[in-house]
Amino acid sequence: MIQFSVNGEIIRSESPPETPLLWVIRDEIKLKGTKFGCGISQCGACTIHLDGSAVRSCVTPLGAAKGRSITTIEGLDSIAGKALQSAWVEEQVPQCGYCQSGQIMQAAQLLADTPKPTDEDINVAMNGNLCRCMAYTRIHKAIKRAANVEEV
Ligand code: FES
Ligand code: FES
Repeated sequence: MIQFSVNGEIIRSESPPETPLLWVIRDEIKLKGTKFGCGISQCGACTIHLDGSAVRSCVTPLGAAKGRSITTIEGLDSIAGKALQSAWVEEQVPQCGYCQSGQIMQAAQLLADTPKPTDEDINVAMNGNLCRCMAYTRIHKAIKRAANVEEV
């Protein structure tokens, strides 16, 4: 039995400790906002926060969550997280939407670490989150809007 919290709720899982957290989140806890893209830490679609740090849940084993706190897109209610979600709507970022929860979770980590990011900060932080719809320009603008950073 492995106990941890997800979006503030205590969860107990009897799955093997090596089970990817992504499967536990989607199939046991039934939170479907976190997506499976590649399964090998190459796309960012599965990004969640583990004790406040962005991690790829497809390659993070359940055992790593023991006693720790997970946030998924459904529970992202930090000030920066809310600002990002509003900015995403205002900039009409998503196309198909598949990558977007991972993008927002990664961006929330960026703004937690760097509240006023430069273009370079954004490019570096978001580099591992792929978007097959090529929404990169809108993602970048939305992050700047959420951070209240002037476009230049
Ligand atoms: S599904 Fe986890 S990084 Fe692609
Ligand atoms: S909006 Fe379609 S993959 Fe990013």
